Amino acid sequence: MILDGVDVTSEQKVATLASRIRRKISEIDLLINNAGIYIEDNLEQLSSEKLIMQFKTNSIAPLLITKALLPLLNHGSKVAMISSQMGSIGGNESGGPYGYRASKAALNAFGKNLSIDLRKREIAVFQFHPGYVDTDMTKHLGVISPAQSAQALVKLIETLTINETGTYWHMNGTKLEW
Ligand SMILES: NC(=O)c1ccc[n+]([C@@H]2O[C@H](COP(=O)([O-])OP(=O)(O)OC[C@H]3O[C@@H](n4cnc5c(N)ncnc54)[C@H](OP(=O)(O)O)[C@@H]3O)[C@@H](O)[C@H]2O)c1
Repeated sequence: MILDGVDVTSEQKVATLASRIRRKISEIDLLINNAGIYIEDNLEQLSSEKLIMQFKTNSIAPLLITKALLPLLNHGSKVAMISSQMGSIGGNESGGPYGYRASKAALNAFGKNLSIDLRKREIAVFQFHPGYVDTDMTKHLGVISPAQSAQALVKLIETLTINETGTYWHMNGTKLEW
């Protein structure tokens, strides 16, 4: 089933999406929150509009989508937040992109919090860096293909269990610093 035309920043569209999905399927084994945006907003280019847009898409939308689809998540279900290593506060050594970095750090915080709230229902939540991927976002400068990134992520997600819920991973299988 493919449902297109969804704007993840629209609460109304997300609610409609969730009810359409609920009509078609009864359970989600793996929910991957992948949609994201990157806006150039170095110190000279900052604006509240660019910052807010990135928080809406990269942090708030994955949280609200997960909430909307919670009725379909059960014991053993997994939620994968496609974050970025640029969201690592401890790993930040180069500054720059304020909205992207902070919105992914906020996504990590939401995901960690969700993992605690959902642990008792045995729903696991993980954050991932997908690698430097050859996509529009990287202006096709990325060093791995989307297929390579997706395959590595799926393999990693399969190995992770509820015992590792609330953790943050590079697609190469190493744990990332918050
Ligand atoms: N590429 C990398 O090296 C890299 C590194 C670290 C993290 N990431 C993360 O990986 C994820 C995928 O990135 P990408 O490289 O594939 O980026 P991309 O080429 O720019 O694609 C972004 C995707 O997100 C969707 N999207 C953006 N805003 C949306 C909205 N409001 N509603 C619905 N869909 C929306 C886009 O849909 P449309 O095409 O319909 O606009 C598109 O499918 C993002 O979360 C990104 O932050 C990527």
